[in-house]
Amino acid sequence: MIGESFYNLKIMDKFIIHKSRLKGSVKISGSKNAALPIMAATLLTDEKCVVSNVPDLMDIRTMIDILAVLGKKITFQDNVLYIESKRKKSYVAPYKLVSTMRASFCCLGPLLAKRKRAKVSLPGGCIIGVRPVDLHIKGLKELGAKIIVDKGYCIGEAKKLQGSHVYLGGVFGSSVLATANVLMAAVLTKGETTIEYAACEPEIEALTLFLKKMGAVVSGEGTPLIKVRGVQSLGGCEFKIIPDRIEAGTFIAASLATDSPLTIKSANPLHLTSIIEASRMMGANITFDEKKNIFVKPKTLKPVNLTTLPYPGFPTDLQAQFMTCLCLTKGISLITEKVYPDRFMHVAELNRMGMSIQRNGPYSIIEGKGKLFGAEVMASDLRASAALVIAGMAAEGKTELLRVYHIDRGYERIEDKLRKLGAKITREKQRKQTKDRRF
Ligand code: EPZ
Repeated sequence: MIGESFYNLKIMDKFIIHKSRLKGSVKISGSKNAALPIMAATLLTDEKCVVSNVPDLMDIRTMIDILAVLGKKITFQDNVLYIESKRKKSYVAPYKLVSTMRASFCCLGPLLAKRKRAKVSLPGGCIIGVRPVDLHIKGLKELGAKIIVDKGYCIGEAKKLQGSHVYLGGVFGSSVLATANVLMAAVLTKGETTIEYAACEPEIEALTLFLKKMGAVVSGEGTPLIKVRGVQSLGGCEFKIIPDRIEAGTFIAASLATDSPLTIKSANPLHLTSIIEASRMMGANITFDEKKNIFVKPKTLKPVNLTTLPYPGFPTDLQAQFMTCLCLTKGISLITEKVYPDRFMHVAELNRMGMSIQRNGPYSIIEGKGKLFGAEVMASDLRASAALVIAGMAAEGKTELLRVYHIDRGYERIEDKLRKLGAKITREKQRKQTKDRRF
C-alpha cells in the first residue's frame, strides 16, 4: 500500500542534550582519515606494522575486519594496531564491509601493487553525495592495471605496472582517497610516477611518511605534484597517527556555539589555519602556545561567508558544524559547498530547531537569529551528527538526537569528552519500533 510505513526493530541509540556551557581542556584523538589509508597501506608488506594513536571508532573496526578478510592478523589495544600477515590471503574486499565504509575502497591500489590482482566492491553512494570512484580507476589504469566493473565490483589485474604521469583532477578538484590509492600502487611500480593535481591534505602527507618509513621513495607530498620512484619491496614499520584536525575543528565550533572558552590539546594548529581564520572572522580570539595547545575565547559571533574547498581551503567536513555556529549569529551568512554540493542534510534538522535556512543547490543562506530551540532531530551522516550535538548544547530546552551510530563512526567517545567539559549530554540505548520513512 502506498505510503505504508514500515516497522523495524533497531537498536537506536539516541543522545539527550540540554543547553550547556563548557569549560576546561579536551585532548584530540588520532585522525580517522589518516589512519584508514595507512591501514590499507599495510597490505603492501608482509612484515609487521605497529600503528599508534589510532582512534577507537567504528570505521577503524570496519577496516580491521576488511584487512582480516584480506589476510592480515590484527590486534588493537590501547589505541595501538599490531598488523601482521597470515599465510592465507584473499584479494576480495566484500560488499557487506566496503558498502559500510567508503575508505575501504583504497585497498584497491595496494592489492594490485602487491598481489597483482584485486576484487573490491564499489563503495556506493552515501547521504552526502554520489561518491564516484572514476579518478581512482583512471589513475590505476594509467599505471597499467586492467580494471573492469562487474556486478558492483571493481575487478583488477596488474601483471605489469609501469610508472607513468597521472593527472588526478576531477570536476570537484583533487580527490583525497584517489590520491592515496594511486600513490600506494605507484610505490611498488617499476619506474617513475608523477601524480599531478594530487590532494594536499595532511592525511596524504601522513600516508606518504608511513610509506617512506616502509622504504618507499616519494617526494612532493602536501603539494599538487607528487613524485614516486618505484621500489621492489617494502618493509614493516612503526608509526604514530597525526591528530584529527576535523575533531579539533568540531570542538572549536562547540566552543563558539556555546560561548565557552576551551583549550584544545594534542591538535596541530598548522593543519587548522582555515578554521582558525574563519573563527577569527566570526569574532573569536584564538591563540596557541609552543606546545601547540589551542586557546579558544569566543566573543559575540558575527555572520561570515564560508566556501568549502580541498585543503588548505575550509574543509567540507566542518561545514555542518560551522553552519550551527552561524545560526547563533545575528545576521546573514552564505555557505557555498564546493566539494559535496548535496551535503546539506543538516539544514532541515536545524530548521526544526527554529531556523529558516534556505538551501539552493550548493548554496545555503543562514539568517542567524541568535538562538536555537531544542527539538527531536535525526542524524544523517557523521559530520551532520556532530553539528546537531553542538546545536543541542547551544539550544534553549531539550534536544533528542536520533541515530547516533553515525557519530560513533568518526568520533571517539564524543559524549564522554563533552561531559568532561561540562556538557549536559546522555546516551540512551533505544530498542523500539520506528515508523521510519525519512532515512
Ligand atoms: C575524503 O573522502 C574523506 N574521507 C572525507 O571525509 C572528506 O569529506 C573528503 O575526503 C573531502 O575532503 C576519508 O578520508 C576516509 P574525495 P574521499 O575523493 O577521498 C569527487 C568524513 O566525514 N570525486 O576527496 O572519498 C567527490 O565526489 C569523510 O570523515 C570524484 O568526482 O573524498 C567529491 O565531490 C566524509 N571522483 C570530491 O571529488 C572520484 O573518483 C572530493 O572527494 C573521487 C572523488
